[in-house]
Amino acid sequence: MHPIIAAFHQAGQGQVFAFFDQLSPEGQQRLLAEAAEVDLAEVDRLNRTLVSKSAAAGIDLEGLAPAPYERLPQHGGDVDAWKRAKKAGEDALRAGRVAAFTVAGGQGTRLGYDGPKGTFPVTPLNGKTLFQVFAEKIRAAGTRYGKPIHWFIMTSHQNHAATEAFFHEHERFGLAESHVHFFRQGRMPAVTFEGKIMLETKESLALSPDGHGGSLRALDRSGALDLMAREGIDTLSYFQVDNPLVRCIDPSFIGWHLLSGSEMSSKMIPKAYAAEKVGHFCTQRGKTIVVEYSDLPPALQAEIDPATGKLRYLAGSIAIHVLSREFVRRMAAGGEGVALPFHRADKKIPTVDAAGQAVKPEKPNGIKFEMFVFDALPFASRPLVIEALRADDFSPVKNADGVDSPKTCRDDQMRQFARWLNAHGAGLAVDATGLPAVPLEVSPLFGYDEDSFADAWKRLSPKPKAGPDGLRLG
Ligand code: UD1
Repeated sequence: MHPIIAAFHQAGQGQVFAFFDQLSPEGQQRLLAEAAEVDLAEVDRLNRTLVSKSAAAGIDLEGLAPAPYERLPQHGGDVDAWKRAKKAGEDALRAGRVAAFTVAGGQGTRLGYDGPKGTFPVTPLNGKTLFQVFAEKIRAAGTRYGKPIHWFIMTSHQNHAATEAFFHEHERFGLAESHVHFFRQGRMPAVTFEGKIMLETKESLALSPDGHGGSLRALDRSGALDLMAREGIDTLSYFQVDNPLVRCIDPSFIGWHLLSGSEMSSKMIPKAYAAEKVGHFCTQRGKTIVVEYSDLPPALQAEIDPATGKLRYLAGSIAIHVLSREFVRRMAAGGEGVALPFHRADKKIPTVDAAGQAVKPEKPNGIKFEMFVFDALPFASRPLVIEALRADDFSPVKNADGVDSPKTCRDDQMRQFARWLNAHGAGLAVDATGLPAVPLEVSPLFGYDEDSFADAWKRLSPKPKAGPDGLRLG
């Protein structure tokens, strides 16, 4: 018997090879290759901890409290400390110590978009894609600080080839080939409620991406950390693919991280309302943690802090972090007690029945396992949370309509452009929410944040005026 098949039988997972004898030689090779990706000991551990009924406990709330954070100067933060942070971040950028890192392995399922999410068009007038917006911000920041910035992009098996092809087709939006790096995240097998690894077809396993937490081991496995070390990069600016407003390269944030000696830092924004679907920065037993919106009981989410009259669990996670390279390496290596936990998600998983016929389930029939990057926070020394402005950092595209949709995101981009313009006397008419009366778009290559915009605007002569069709800059 093939050693992989023998190992699966020994682990009680022999069902994976139930149809093996009926497969073509190619089909057999494919199944064996996929099976070789599976860490049977890990699956066994997950079966004991997450799948068995006795393990299905709720989250541990003991000693939970809101995490402290550094306030912005306009909200009472230390003005000089923010200035020092910005300077330190700018110095690090000039020294080429910082790389950008995007997790882009997810599918745009909720958005109903077929294709890598980063290829979704988002800007209000030119319809630039998420990837183009990030690429231009990164390119412009590299120019500003005199050092081209490396960009690492994590894809998944489903979207790797399409993502690479998209960048190739668009000549990486002007970024040098040597500075854009793609690598794939790992996969995990789905299991039945009895802990049996599932087949998707007779010759393939039901495999799915291992969550954005898989990025830490994927950075290591792909050689990205070694490349960074060779290039003198020790700091990663991490963001999700769904948020074009993100300051991909934010000197103040980078500087706060470096000056405080933090291994992993995070941005928070005050939650807009109790049920907003973001994670919450909390502390528990001396550690900083993020508790997902689905895990924090609604009563706690709605609790009011009597001292401020605001939500007690106010600090919402917008999934923007700075990570130290060697911290990522340590997390990826694992070792005694150092590992990201897996989370369980019960899903409808297409599979085959005992006769090998395809089954499309109507209710959840199995379990997927995912790791979350924010679960690295409790392992980081001196984790730091800083406040950010929603209007400058967060307007994700998650849903086809309603909140966090392409429409809300376009509007938020236009509000930002109008704010930048009006800060310099452009005199654009805006409504009570700051939305301009005519459409606007500012290319990141013109200005990608308040400072770079201000510099470009000052140089511009004559100053353009918005016509009835709106205004495009850059
Ligand atoms: C996420 C966060 C939430 C945060 C919110 C902010 C989780 C579990 N929750 O929610 O705390 O407040 O964003 O917008 O992350 N991805 C991969 N590989 C995967 C899975 C996801 O690369 O296997 C990437 C996606 O491409 C995307 C990001 O991770 O860039 C977020 O994934 P998603 O599942 O959309 O997270 P949310 O539920 O929106």
